[in-house]
Amino acid sequence: MIEIAKKLYQFSIYIPPMDFTIHQYLYASNPSILFAAGTAGQAKYILPEIKEILGERELKYIFVSHMESDEAGGISVFKKEYPNVTVICGNLAARELGGYGYDGNVIAKCGEDIIEDGELKLRLFDYPAEVHNQDGIVCLEENSGIFYSADLMLRYGNGVGNVIKSAWSDEVEAINEDRIKDDKQREKLQSRLLKANPKFIAVGHGYCVECI
Ligand SMILES: [Fe+2]
Ligand SMILES: [Fe+2]
Repeated sequence: MIEIAKKLYQFSIYIPPMDFTIHQYLYASNPSILFAAGTAGQAKYILPEIKEILGERELKYIFVSHMESDEAGGISVFKKEYPNVTVICGNLAARELGGYGYDGNVIAKCGEDIIEDGELKLRLFDYPAEVHNQDGIVCLEENSGIFYSADLMLRYGNGVGNVIKSAWSDEVEAINEDRIKDDKQREKLQSRLLKANPKFIAVGHGYCVECI
């Protein structure tokens, strides 16, 4: 676990044969939020560290960008420790969370919403995510400038604890058909993202980005 930005804790696994890194992030704000739950195995592994960081505080939110095991697999592990936790996800994921044994609170949103709670101001963006190519979400926490990109700004390599510098506009323009197949949906998301102004990209895979 690495504090990769202020109050933002990165948990990672690097898979050498794939040259691929999978991250989750705890933003220890008030209230707290976990960006991606990781697989059930990873969730069990990182839970003690999360409990240590939060101390007496609850984990209030888990952000699930889309329905894949690296994003959602561990939600029930966290629900067991934090029974009042709320999953924030898109409409499609909301219908499928039960598949991971989750029966807790859910906020299902489309990608044009803002969720405000204490220090958190989450601006959501529609993200036609793999594997369904629909109904995913990514978000910008506007008070800190942290953008959680899930699979959108993905790089290969060992990204554990690594931060590179790049212009936000370059990162948005680099989103290609490998990430979003449909031209119209990709361009719509890119034009919306270009109006945002993040300071830091917390990526689901690869290297985090300090926006210059
Ligand atoms: Fe994914
Ligand atoms: Fe992913």
